[in-house]
Amino acid sequence: MATHHDTHDLHALASALEALDLPGRLRLVADRFPGTVAFSTSLGQEDQVITDAIWTHDIPIRIFTLDTGRLFEETHALIDATRERYGRQIEVYFPDAAEVEVFVGTRGHHSFRASVDDRKACCELRKVRPLARALQGVRVWVTGLRREQSANRQGMRIVEWDEGYGLLKLNPLIEWSLDEVVAYLDEHDVPDNPLHAQGYVSIGCAPCTRPIAPGEDPRAGRWWWEASKKECGLHRVLTPVAARDAQEQS
Ligand code: ADX
Ligand code: SF4
Repeated sequence: MATHHDTHDLHALASALEALDLPGRLRLVADRFPGTVAFSTSLGQEDQVITDAIWTHDIPIRIFTLDTGRLFEETHALIDATRERYGRQIEVYFPDAAEVEVFVGTRGHHSFRASVDDRKACCELRKVRPLARALQGVRVWVTGLRREQSANRQGMRIVEWDEGYGLLKLNPLIEWSLDEVVAYLDEHDVPDNPLHAQGYVSIGCAPCTRPIAPGEDPRAGRWWWEASKKECGLHRVLTPVAARDAQEQS
């Protein structure tokens, strides 16, 4: 795995990517980093656009999802529907069973309601550690992040060096609007989560996601009982040591 990335190279890569359409962006990284590009899908609308582009254009990029064990039934159904539609496999990563047994056994099934720290401990166990495992050997991590999704995401770029994981992060929909995402799904007849029609925008785990009212912040439905910091830790920048520890544990 690369341990650094030249700033100049990164700017050049960003400019090249910005000039391309979605399949062009995905193709460019797949060509430049053969066999080491992976896309994490939460089966959200953005993610379904990227999955469609990867599989329709036959681009050699692995697709995986993190099954926290607390997903909506609708999300599980969509994983199956997506596999059937394209005739391909989405790799599914689960949290460590023994760790979940101790965690739930000692803290109960709803410890994430107690405090932000308790919530983050659950996200760490169920998402962040499995993500570190899924990213082993990966040089480019593709995500469905968009700037419009939240204030935290406004400063994100199309390609970034993720110091924590020691890899490049490609956000190929970074400048897309939600309207563009929805138009793509319609045009290409891509399966999506029926919960979106019921007011859910950003969909995560069932006990931690609620629908939002029109005009509400897109992330208001995630961890709605918390005052701020509506991020789960997947996209924070880890210190190199934390990333290495996470890899060694898996
Ligand atoms: S989160 O940080 O709040 O959980 P969000 O739901 O907005 O993230 O999704 C942003 C991106 O993170 C997705 O496009 C996807 O690349 C990745 N992601 C989030 N949740 C998962 C998951 N359960 N499995 C795989 N990737 C995920
Ligand atoms: Fe746990 Fe909720 Fe985080 Fe899912 S979103 S991992 S249930 S705290």
